Amino acid sequence: MISKLEHMKTASEPSCLRGKHILLAVSAGIAAYKAPLIVRTLRAVGAQVQVVLSANAHHFVTPTTLQAVTGSPVRQDMWDEAAEAAMGHIELARWADIVLVAPATANTLAKLAHGMADDLLSTTCLATQAPIVVAPAMNQRMYQHPATQANLKAVQALGYHIVGPDSGEQACGDDGPGRMSEPDELVAFLASLQVTSVLSGQHVMITAGPTLEPIDPVRYISNHSSGLQGLSIAEAAKAAGAEVILIAGPRVAASSAGIQRLNVVTALEMQSAVQEHLAGIDIFIGVAAVADYRPKLVEQVKMKRSGGESGSLTLEFVENPDIIAGVAQHRPKPLVIGFAAETNNTLEHARAKRIRKQLDAIVLNDIADPSIGFNSLHNAATLIFEHGEITLPKQTKRQLADTLISQLVLIFASQIADTNPGSMSE
Ligand code: PMT
Repeated sequence: MISKLEHMKTASEPSCLRGKHILLAVSAGIAAYKAPLIVRTLRAVGAQVQVVLSANAHHFVTPTTLQAVTGSPVRQDMWDEAAEAAMGHIELARWADIVLVAPATANTLAKLAHGMADDLLSTTCLATQAPIVVAPAMNQRMYQHPATQANLKAVQALGYHIVGPDSGEQACGDDGPGRMSEPDELVAFLASLQVTSVLSGQHVMITAGPTLEPIDPVRYISNHSSGLQGLSIAEAAKAAGAEVILIAGPRVAASSAGIQRLNVVTALEMQSAVQEHLAGIDIFIGVAAVADYRPKLVEQVKMKRSGGESGSLTLEFVENPDIIAGVAQHRPKPLVIGFAAETNNTLEHARAKRIRKQLDAIVLNDIADPSIGFNSLHNAATLIFEHGEITLPKQTKRQLADTLISQLVLIFASQIADTNPGSMSE
């Protein structure tokens, strides 16, 4: 018998990659010079590695070097008859347990985001069912360009994992975000993906996104939540082996197959969906930015300007039910984790909110920093629970989701085990 806690510790070690098939997909950026080191780090922990190069990557790293360190022919041409005869690109896609795209240039990211398949690397990524990990590396201006940021969001919505980039001095002389993460960090991330069973047997419900409260047929009140953080947690919980129900507000991007999803619009609809499916839920994570109030009356026809002298309009609002506080009253009580986005006295407000709503833990986002929280690719948080607080530094929302799941399993190990003792052994 291995406890989940022990399993997770063992599985997070890079040695859990022993025997795994890692397909390293190298695109044409200066960071490609680190590809042989990635291969060596992976082989040192016992992984089997094959390399596929994008059309121009050979300008930055030679196939001969990569062949020497992998011990296998390097693949770079879809039309290479000999290579295709030995292992066709579809077989290569099936061979991989994990695909690591490192470095991922702006061009490769754009191709992945739009499902293009015009060279062996992009075709293989499209054909594989293995998890895809993307390590962006490019000039800091290219990285910060809205098109690249949109492509990053798009690949994340497809369920790809993004690692890095780091910030610092760049090969071109610029300083800023765009340096590829170091090989040992990439390998550690791949190892963390092997933590597949820490939530097996657990039923997890997650709310994500905003709610939208109609005023009349054309107007509503809402907030800036994109749903990406909630969606990322749903994907991370599923990757950790849980059965996941995602209650998604408007605008939340597509979730992967295998996640049971219920789309809702208003807070009342979200509450009904949550209550209806709560029986048998072991862990509830409320990430949604639920509107606290809704208009008391929803006009059935479009409201017209009054033309009156005051030039103002007064709407009366009523309070929406507190969905997560209701979940915390449910018996048997699931493990209940809330989120709090705060702008001032953040710790004080979040701690009080956790106690007031009777939550087991709350994840605080300091949204005074516009680069995290609402509608951004990144997040940073403080995980607050009864006996401690843990800082989760700025990272992509998917990385934060994976870290959060790991931390919750560690902190609430006995409680998670109690809800489903059978899932503790292997
Ligand atoms: O969606 P993204 O763009 O990715 O952004 C993510 C996020 C910033 C929305 C997310 O990380 C976050 O912080 N969500 C909580 C937002 C918030 O301020 O919640 P709150 O303080 O209003 O509510 C606290 C908790 O109670 C939350 O778990 C919320 O889901 C829950 N709640 C709130 C009101 C209500 N009527 N019912 C609830 O269940």
